[in-house]
Amino acid sequence: MCLGCRTCFDRGEEFCPLKDELLSIREKLNEADGIVLASPVYVEDVNGIMKNWIDRMAFNCHRPAFADKTAVVVSTSGIGASNHALKTMKTALMTWGFYVNNQQKFSTGALMKREQIYGRYNHKIKTIAINLFNAIKNKKVLKPSFYSLVMFKVQQNYWQKKSNERYTIDYIYWNEKGWLSPECTYYSIIKTNWLKVKMARLFGEIIATFFI
Ligand SMILES: Cc1cc2nc3c(=O)[nH]c(=O)nc-3n(C[C@H](O)[C@H](O)[C@H](O)COP(=O)(O)O)c2cc1C
Repeated sequence: MCLGCRTCFDRGEEFCPLKDELLSIREKLNEADGIVLASPVYVEDVNGIMKNWIDRMAFNCHRPAFADKTAVVVSTSGIGASNHALKTMKTALMTWGFYVNNQQKFSTGALMKREQIYGRYNHKIKTIAINLFNAIKNKKVLKPSFYSLVMFKVQQNYWQKKSNERYTIDYIYWNEKGWLSPECTYYSIIKTNWLKVKMARLFGEIIATFFI
């Protein structure tokens, strides 16, 4: 479990006192063009393992590194689950910079056999895979969501104001990436509607003014 020590925020993820496969999983994400993040629904949210993984990866909220990557989020549940679990995964991934191309629920029940799942969902699984492949091929990652643009602006404002934190690894990371420049509107070059970008930046500015 994440210890909440903030070492990954303040010193870097390589100093996490829990020595396990977290960083090698992150390395696999670095190498991937796209990912599928899936969790069973437990009490209307992701299961504890997934939530703990998201918590352990929280340093990516400070230093997003996945803006060139696409993701799909999937949940499996006993009965028709709410959107809560999907939202938990989607929010984390978008905050880390991912473009979330699709979100899908599967009602699999606890005891459904693999063959039954394929029988019922084969077509849906194939469609999700094809959509993900096409999104990667067409580089849709360059069209961030409104939410992602707002979150970028909020963090940008935060670091622009924090000149007294110039030596923190978060500040250095944002500065080295060129993200503190007022002209920069996202982690990577984007192809999207200018009005959407303007509105998102205005929204981000308001949030940053009142909450930071
Ligand atoms: C602790 C626990 C809590 C669960 N909570 C829910 C729930 O809130 N809603 C739901 O639809 N199914 C719930 N389920 C059922 C699971 O989501 C279901 O068994 C699902 O198919 C598990 O996915 P898996 O087969 O991929 O492990 C729960 C199961 C467990 C073990």
